[in-house]
Amino acid sequence: MRKYKTVFSSFHTLYRLTTSLSDSNNFVIGITKLYKNIFKAEKVVTVCKVSNSHNFIKVNIENKKQVVKKGGLSILTKREKEILKQNREVILNNRMICPFIFVDTLGAVYIKRKTKNDIFDDLDKRWFISLSEQVSIYLKIFSLYQEQRKIMLNYIKSLSNILNNYIPTSYLHTKSVSKLISALGKEMKLTKAEMKSLEYASMLHDAGKLQVPSKLLKKQRPLTNKEYEIIRKHPKTGASLIKDLAALKPVAPIILHHHEKYDGTGYPSRLKKDNIPLGARIMSVIDAFDAMFFGRPYKKRMKLKSIEAELKKQTGKQFDPKVVHSFLKILKNKRIRKYLHSFY
Ligand SMILES: [Fe+2]
Repeated sequence: MRKYKTVFSSFHTLYRLTTSLSDSNNFVIGITKLYKNIFKAEKVVTVCKVSNSHNFIKVNIENKKQVVKKGGLSILTKREKEILKQNREVILNNRMICPFIFVDTLGAVYIKRKTKNDIFDDLDKRWFISLSEQVSIYLKIFSLYQEQRKIMLNYIKSLSNILNNYIPTSYLHTKSVSKLISALGKEMKLTKAEMKSLEYASMLHDAGKLQVPSKLLKKQRPLTNKEYEIIRKHPKTGASLIKDLAALKPVAPIILHHHEKYDGTGYPSRLKKDNIPLGARIMSVIDAFDAMFFGRPYKKRMKLKSIEAELKKQTGKQFDPKVVHSFLKILKNKRIRKYLHSFY
């Protein structure tokens, strides 16, 4: 009876592993540990294909030692390559092998108990095969999920390329921006997902300008009130451009509110202080930094010292003091400073 309970709880643990982990590496490590614990094995080796590539991840746990390898066929032993080719389960006294198959072979698992007398019983065998079938389904889901992310990233990149050709003035320097976002994200203790959303937003925040006549975008300032009105619509248009993409849902508020000001004088909603989504408050500092640091056709480049002074001056007016405080802190970081100086 106790064993049956463990069988059921192992399927539950597997489900929990799948829903709580967003990357396949940790998933493979998690299932290897799961196999080891529930089957009381001395050694477990799990090999899985990294989706849509010729690479593998191999997790080998023997006693308490865990080794994780990632790479091409060369990380597999001759025997492991054979197992992947065989495509069928092998059950021997104290050893079991099962491939992960979902249309294609996605990998395999090998488990071994210490002595030959410590044999796997009938329930173990059926349990091992059923669990491995479930793992195959989850591995397939991970691979489809990653495929979807790739498609979405390509969509963002092409949209951002079109955008940069159409409106070079709103181009953010992707590489440096992504470096700053990751440093600022760590400083402000943002989650990985929040940092990703900021990165996507940095590429798409001005996408709404695609609906502004290019004549108007190229016009040297000052603009008339009517012309400003047209330009001020771009956050709303930009957010509505991505509204049907579920995966970009957290990016929409950043795009919609990236021109709000901390004191409530921005647009489109005249939001104040913490009512402005955090991502948008960060985006507004990053956007301003990029414009000052790299310059714009209508604006000369500025030295870091003057940028810092300008950010301080706008603290509490245009920008959130907490964001400026963290941003100035990362600008003092030696590595970031060295990187930024390479652009002068
Ligand atoms: Fe904008």
